[in-house]
Amino acid sequence: MTTTPSEHKPAAEFNAGHAGRDILSLTTTTATRVLPADAAAVALAAERLRAGGLVAFPTETVYGLGADATNGAAVARIYAAKGRPRFNPLISHVADAQEARRLGRFNAAARKLAAAFWPGPLTLVVPKAAGCTIAALTTAGLDTVALRVPSHPVAQAILRAAGRPIAAPSANRSGRISPTTAAHVRADFPDALDLIVDGGATAVGLESTIVACVDETPVVLRLGGLARGAIEEVLGAPVGVRKAAGEAPQAPGQLASHYAPRAAVRRGAVQVERGEALLTFAGAAPPGTADAVAVLDLSPRGDFVEAAANFFSYLRRLDASGADTIAVVPIPERHLGEAINDRLRRAAAPRPPASTAPRSTG
Ligand code: TXA
Ligand code: MG
Repeated sequence: MTTTPSEHKPAAEFNAGHAGRDILSLTTTTATRVLPADAAAVALAAERLRAGGLVAFPTETVYGLGADATNGAAVARIYAAKGRPRFNPLISHVADAQEARRLGRFNAAARKLAAAFWPGPLTLVVPKAAGCTIAALTTAGLDTVALRVPSHPVAQAILRAAGRPIAAPSANRSGRISPTTAAHVRADFPDALDLIVDGGATAVGLESTIVACVDETPVVLRLGGLARGAIEEVLGAPVGVRKAAGEAPQAPGQLASHYAPRAAVRRGAVQVERGEALLTFAGAAPPGTADAVAVLDLSPRGDFVEAAANFFSYLRRLDASGADTIAVVPIPERHLGEAINDRLRRAAAPRPPASTAPRSTG
């Protein structure tokens, strides 16, 4: 096939840009690249994903650690990089509800929730559709699939450019604090990824709320960035939260130690002990606050959305203060306070012995 010089030109320009250079350098270096979320980074991300690579990218909830959901070998790299137990299935991200409905079977409740909240911080667990192309490893062999349509423009651009479902757990080492900035991702994965796309701090700050629409009655599998009340409003009925006790884990957020900082976490603190850091809310200043190693207020004006957005990065900052314990004031159990308390309970849970036992989950 013959080509004219003018047909060569765009290719030459592409190769001279960031994308071309990075494709070459990836084969010779193991340090994780971080690129600002411009068009070249999106193109490179899609290229690496299609080639079976690992790419971290921002969503409106937290940063995801993405791989081609239809490629079992690529998904295996996610589990390996995170140190994640194999029995935890992953969320597959797609660009729109139409694509989601090619992969899963949506009952009436699932259709309602998708129409109301996609794109956005909602994951739906539904039965796999016939001909679903998601790899068995992505769903950990289940006959259901977790689907999410993120709203973040960078995630949307990458999904459209990749042109296939992307499996993406939160981009943290298993059992550690979820990442809300590219720097958080790099701290956990200094050298294991092909690329981190930096789109700034995430807006929601908590992982998506997961709702199973498998049986007659929808049930919340994980509380998250979409408040339970909003879901109940759309469904016109109360929605329960499935408890994991005594059951096979349906969502890793249900296991004990999770979202764990290095420091111990002490919930419901009504005073600050010597040597503790304090995570507070709505301006609360219990006795001892003035002597705390460090103090951060999730939302001085008591706003749950702001508190959720700050939650994981404030936990990291207090952890970095060097305090042995992070004391946390009581957080009201309503709106996104419910999901924040859920994360705090796991951060405060007894931990497996350091480095020997596998960390709980994703
Ligand atoms: O906000 C989020 O959801 C982020 C961003 C990156 O999208 N992702 C995330 O993924 O938090 P991950 O892998 O950390 O959590 C996925 C959750 C797990 O709790 C998993 O057990 C559950 O989804 N899950 C996935 N497939 C499932 C299935 N078929 N049945 C029940 N639970 C499932
Ligand atoms: Mg996670």
